[in-house]
Amino acid sequence: MAMIRSLSSSPPPAKRPRLDFSTKCTRPTSDFKGGLMLAPMVRSGSLPTRLFALKHGAKLVWGPEIVDKALLHAERAVDPVSGTVHFNGVSKAIFSCHPIEKPYLIYQIGSADPELAVQAARIIKDDVSGVDLNCGCPKPFSTHSGMGAALLTNPDLLCSILTALRNELPPHISVSAKIRLLPSQEDTLKLVKRIIDTGVSAITVHCRTRSMRPREKALIERMREIVEYVEGLAVDVAIIYNGDCQGYPDARRVKEITRAHSIMIATAAESNPTCFDPNPLTDLEHTLLPSYVQLARFLSIHWANTKFCITQFKGPCPVTGKDKRKEIKELISRTKSYEGLEDISGPWDGEMVLNEIQDILKRRNDYLLIDESDKEEQWAGLPLSPHDTNQEIQKVNLLPSYEREIMIAS
Ligand SMILES: Cc1cc2nc3c(=O)[nH]c(=O)nc-3n(C[C@H](O)[C@H](O)[C@H](O)COP(=O)(O)O)c2cc1C
Repeated sequence: MAMIRSLSSSPPPAKRPRLDFSTKCTRPTSDFKGGLMLAPMVRSGSLPTRLFALKHGAKLVWGPEIVDKALLHAERAVDPVSGTVHFNGVSKAIFSCHPIEKPYLIYQIGSADPELAVQAARIIKDDVSGVDLNCGCPKPFSTHSGMGAALLTNPDLLCSILTALRNELPPHISVSAKIRLLPSQEDTLKLVKRIIDTGVSAITVHCRTRSMRPREKALIERMREIVEYVEGLAVDVAIIYNGDCQGYPDARRVKEITRAHSIMIATAAESNPTCFDPNPLTDLEHTLLPSYVQLARFLSIHWANTKFCITQFKGPCPVTGKDKRKEIKELISRTKSYEGLEDISGPWDGEMVLNEIQDILKRRNDYLLIDESDKEEQWAGLPLSPHDTNQEIQKVNLLPSYEREIMIAS
């Protein structure tokens, strides 16, 4: 197991000059436009899931919601072997991230207090590229203390948190919000306008109301008016749609209905983190699971979290077959540590998996520099992914060599 080096004893950083309050966001809003995004997901939005989502075409990835106070009490530690940054609570890592995902990583915060939100954001700001406020979680553990969806009915507090974050964070760190629909469209538009006025770069609208259950169909038809309303304001804010998108092949339908600047995916990505790809992997037990497990182990992700994530994998298995899949699922459910999966995950070489993802992401930096007009043009016709914009990336991503080898071997 890799040794963890604590950084808590490092000298405090030099005092930062106070930001000019007139400085709003200088991170380009275009980063939030024209792509498919991985949604924030507690437990399921683990570091390996985010890295595979990026590898397969997600433009940005949101981390799972972490409550401000949890981060304030955590200790930051860097694994000197893999480079993973762990924020450790009393008994476990509450959040883990990696420098290679930093340009694409949005940290989602749960908060009901501007001061605590700012303190937590300052702790995380050097490891992420944006901070997003959760204004949609309907669970009592979030709402009872005024967080999550409770903020939807307390817009003064919601906006004061966003304003504080925008004022106190450096301009290259984006501030954004993820909301749900309010029962009335008029109230939703008013809320969107108030949020825009705080200086956010992006708003994600999960098109379900607070009282709707996840199995109820998202109210996708309400989105277009919201997008048109924001465009009518002539402000530079990205509006991201969220709700029931099944992945790249389904994104065209969603884009046509909503005209949203980007689309965020949760459940479909939990089932298959490669769903951002024009050709998502099938037979995940053979094509994704081995490299996922190897990577997770190399990154020192707690086995219980990895076990949870791989247990969520679903989708077609034309090569593996249902019986073999059942057998593998049963093996996973009996397994108590990474060692227990060695038979199906092969030799441990998570570093190789990480290097391959890093190579792909390095090429994607070019993609992020592509002229904005090119991106808009492509997105207008098809869901955009790096595969569309760069032939070389297409070669690498469409047939990831590591996964292809496993597929052939199995
Ligand atoms: C396992 C799981 C965990 C989630 N955790 C969060 C979270 O931490 N923060 C958040 O804003 N939404 C969270 N959500 C909600 C999703 O981000 C998303 O808004 C919702 O699932 C709708 O998207 P979908 O229809 O693509 O699943 C979670 C959803 C799932 C399935």
